[in-house]
Amino acid sequence: MATHKLLLLPGDGIGPEVMREVEKIVGWFRKRGVGFETETDLVGGAAYDAHGVSISEAAMDRAQQADAVLFGAVGGAKWDSVPYAVRPEAGLLRLRKDLGLFANLRPAICYPALADASSLKREVVEGLDIMIVRELTGGVYFGEPKEIVTLEDGSQRAVDTQIYHTHEVERIARVAFDLARKRRNKVSSAEKFNVMKTGVFWRQVVTRIHKGEFSDVELEHVLADNCAMQLVRWPKQFDVIVTDNLFGDILSDIAAMLTGSLGMLPSASLGAEDPVTGQRKALYEPVHGSAPDIAGKGLANPIAMIGSFGMALRYSFGLLDEADRLDKAIANVLASGTRTKDIAAPGANAVGTQDVGDAIVKELEALS
Ligand code: IPM
Ligand code: MN
Repeated sequence: MATHKLLLLPGDGIGPEVMREVEKIVGWFRKRGVGFETETDLVGGAAYDAHGVSISEAAMDRAQQADAVLFGAVGGAKWDSVPYAVRPEAGLLRLRKDLGLFANLRPAICYPALADASSLKREVVEGLDIMIVRELTGGVYFGEPKEIVTLEDGSQRAVDTQIYHTHEVERIARVAFDLARKRRNKVSSAEKFNVMKTGVFWRQVVTRIHKGEFSDVELEHVLADNCAMQLVRWPKQFDVIVTDNLFGDILSDIAAMLTGSLGMLPSASLGAEDPVTGQRKALYEPVHGSAPDIAGKGLANPIAMIGSFGMALRYSFGLLDEADRLDKAIANVLASGTRTKDIAAPGANAVGTQDVGDAIVKELEALS
């Protein structure tokens, strides 16, 4: 039996509590004969407190060796004044960059049971199923120079640099078109070609890849600000949205909220296929952050984290039946009304983080 090596990086805030629920799910699959091996390490503020860096070299090595990394969340006010290079977020950015995880898949699915939890009208979000494909290792997140400099007159100047190379746009476009073929065959490419050279370039490269390799897929170009507006106006017009690192960060938070709560949205970050093994490096994380305000209280919604493990089953291990079963278990638990506070129906009793994890395990049991 194949063993799948998982590295768990719970991180800060609610990260550890939601990761604990994933461990229950992993344990359940293991009992049923799926070979998972897990290791746990520190990242973010937790790693800074222990080692003075946001991720240790040992943890980076483990991440390189793992078949998949499960990542909780990082950050919190406690570390707001630590040096920029070792701030909690730096650990996540290093993982993305060093593992070459250029493709960030952020599906936004509105479960029927949750259509009323969204701040938008039911008819706008019911049945929503879109996929945001965010470029993750380029753009303004990593471009140099990136600095604050003091000028001769004593005033300061801050610079971030948005850079994209041909191969970076080509490969993320291919991921988006490939996914669209397995879905509703439509890609919306978002940039700001009206003000940014990188936007002009993005549009050119996406258009060329489309023409040469994917002309069977419908392609539309949309300005990123307009895309944000359309997402709240009529999100069901979209299938796959492909966009750069920064626009993807913002648009995926909007998309997450359409589904009822930030606590619902999982994500997968994938590297290039290894030409020999066909394997991709991969990291799975919820789109939500560390939510320090509710950390340690057992209130956090673990579904985005559990759904991220579901994406690992699907994209890293090819365990499609298991992934489907987990998705079904989550949907059934939501339908039964077992919900954390962020998505509880008005007037209904909210349950805690652990209750949701337990209910999903029980539902997995019932489904098999
Ligand atoms: C995300 C987060 C990160 C990002 C932060 C924590 C660096 O907001 O994964 O969306 O901006 O990419
Ligand atoms: Mn974000």
